[in-house]
Order: sequence, then structure tokens, then C-alpha cells
Amino acid sequence: MQIPSAFNPPPRLLLGPGPSNVAASVLRAMAQPLVGHLDPFFVKMMEEIKAMLREVFQTKNELTFPISGTGSAGMEFCFVNLIEPGDEVIIGVNGVFGMRMCDVAERCGAKVTKVESAWGSIITPQQIADALKKVSKPKLVAVVHAETSTGVLTPVEEISRLAHAAGALFLLDTVTSLGGCPVRLDEWQVDAVYSGTQKCLSCPPGLSPVSLSPRALEVATKRKTKVQSWYLDVNLLSSYWGQERVYHHTAPITMNYGLHEALRLVFLEGLENRWHRHEQNHLALKKGLAEMSLEIVSQAGHQLWQLNAVGVPAGADEAAVRKQLLAGYNIEIGAGLGPLKGKIWRIGLMGESSRKENVDTVLAALREILKK
Ligand SMILES: Cc1ncc(COP(=O)(O)O)c(C=O)c1O
Repeated sequence: MQIPSAFNPPPRLLLGPGPSNVAASVLRAMAQPLVGHLDPFFVKMMEEIKAMLREVFQTKNELTFPISGTGSAGMEFCFVNLIEPGDEVIIGVNGVFGMRMCDVAERCGAKVTKVESAWGSIITPQQIADALKKVSKPKLVAVVHAETSTGVLTPVEEISRLAHAAGALFLLDTVTSLGGCPVRLDEWQVDAVYSGTQKCLSCPPGLSPVSLSPRALEVATKRKTKVQSWYLDVNLLSSYWGQERVYHHTAPITMNYGLHEALRLVFLEGLENRWHRHEQNHLALKKGLAEMSLEIVSQAGHQLWQLNAVGVPAGADEAAVRKQLLAGYNIEIGAGLGPLKGKIWRIGLMGESSRKENVDTVLAALREILKK
């Protein structure tokens, strides 16, 4: 074997569905020397991460920590701990990630009732209310807050109320929403939540912040059957991330350094200021697109600030435009998925990538390419 030369990644402007660009101080944090995963220095850092995650999730939930794995690991964490074979689950499906939740829930042995909306539309409280009437003993209602595949934000407070009134837990996917728009776990009474680091928190992919309400934790600890996953069993994980500090798995130290710094940056900016920045840059992009006769196609009034689903104009080659943006301008944007394949571009303005200058840069590049 010939040893490959050392790598030198191109300086991409990451304006796709994630990962987003990462601040230099986060990369510097990740280059710091390693310590052991039970080192007092690291244990202190774990506590600081937990406290900052509670604040970013707007919750007092004691059980709030990052799972070692990407957003999908957080999704599995929630389902494997809360679901036992035969449990009835209602899941909103309006894009890729609702579909993924159904797959994960079915693998846990759940009987899944899908509540489907067209891709690009929200899940409504009425749809959930109708589904709840048809299910005899719903254990859980799950919804994706910000559907990254379609650019739509489902309002969830009323859905949560309906779930609780029917005696079910409420589970929310906040992979794309956390840090980019309001997420208020306690106010919305969310029982189980997972997120990701690589979107609006602007940390590399690799950790999945999760939180369980006391009610969800009780369900997870009083199960009749053992949790199918050893790695994601909350009963084992909480003795490492809780006060006992019992070895479970070797925490990815460097990833946690990165998350610590990324969360610090969120609070140095101010959580609400950060939401506002995402909103302003979304509006600037929308205005610039309109000037080029391009529009955001997800449901009006519910469009994400951090992920813009832009309709591909007639006559434009969707994939060729993306290729030119990457090759000629070092800009990454995303393609449409499923029924939206070939029909939309997904322009992410997440975390560090959500900047007015980036909006101007991508608009100028698109203008040049589409003129040709
Ligand atoms: C809404 C949503 N949920 C879940 C995931 C899965 O996260 P990951 O790819 O980090 O495993 C993603 C990733 O894009 C997402 O956007």
C-alpha cells in the first residue's frame, strides 16, 4: 500500500442541510490534549455541558446530556427506552425524518399509526386528534419539529397537549430546530427530545443532545422488558452521566470539548439573539430569491429559518447547479429528497453559516449560474 498524502480539505461554505460551518474556537477546542473520560477535569466539563444543554433546551430536566452518536442515535435512544413490544405509537410523517422514526419505532416492536401530511406541509393538531381517537391505548406521540427534508416547522404545543390528554408521552425531534429557533421543552411539556450538534449548534456531527422529563424517565425505568440496546439504555447511561460516574462506554472526549465550546458561543451570543439572527438571514435570503423570481416552496407561515426549500425554476438542471456551486464557488447546498428530488434545492442557514454575507454570496453565485 502506498501511504496517501496528508489531507487538506477545501474551504467549503456549508449551506446545505448540515453540517454547518464551525467556529474557529470550536475547532481549536477539539485540538486540545486528551484527558481520561473519568478525569476530574472532564467530569467538571460534563456537568457544564449538561447545564448548558438544559438552558438551550429551556428545561429543568435532570436527565439532559449528549448521547455519543449522531442525531439518529438520539432518535434510537428515545424509542428504545420508551417503547416495549406491542406499544401503540402515533408518528407524524411529513418528510424523511418522520419516516425514519416509524422505522425505528417498528424495530422496537411498536404498533405504529402514521399521521401523514404532504411533504412541505405541517402536521396539524386535528390530524393528531383524529389519530388519537382511533388508537386504543397510545403510549407515545412523536413529531419532527423542523423537517430538514422539506423546510417546514410544525407548531407542537397543541399536539403535546392532545397527547397528554390521551395519556401518551410526547416525543420531539429537534435536530434542526435547536439553537436556530425557539425550542421550549418545559413550556411545551415535551417528554423526550433528541437533537444533533452539526446544525444550528455549529459543532461537528458526532453527539446527540437528549433530554427526558421525569414522566418519561419513570416509564423508561419501570419497563417490563429490558431495553433492547445495551449502548443506549438510559438506566446504564445515567450512572455515567449522573453522579455515580460508573464506566459505561468511553465518552468521545474531543467531541465533548467541541460541544462545550459551541454551547458557550450560543450563550455568549444570547439564545434569543441567535434565533433572531436566523430569522433575519432567512428573510434576507427569501427577499433576494424573490428578486430572482425564485421562491421557497414549503407551507407559507411555517417556513424554517434555518433550512430553505427553494423551488428549482423550469429549465434549470437541479444537480448541475449544485455541482457548479461546489466546483466553482466552494458552496455546498442540498438536493431534494424523496418526492422533492429534482424539484428543490435546500439552502441551509444554520448556526455559524447563518450570516448576511453568506446570504449575499450564495445569491450572487446562483444569479451567475442561472444567467448562464
Ligand atoms: C430532523 C432530523 N432528524 C434526524 C436527523 C438524523 O441525524 P444524523 O444524520 O445526525 O444522524 C437529521 C439529520 O439531518 C434531521 O435533519
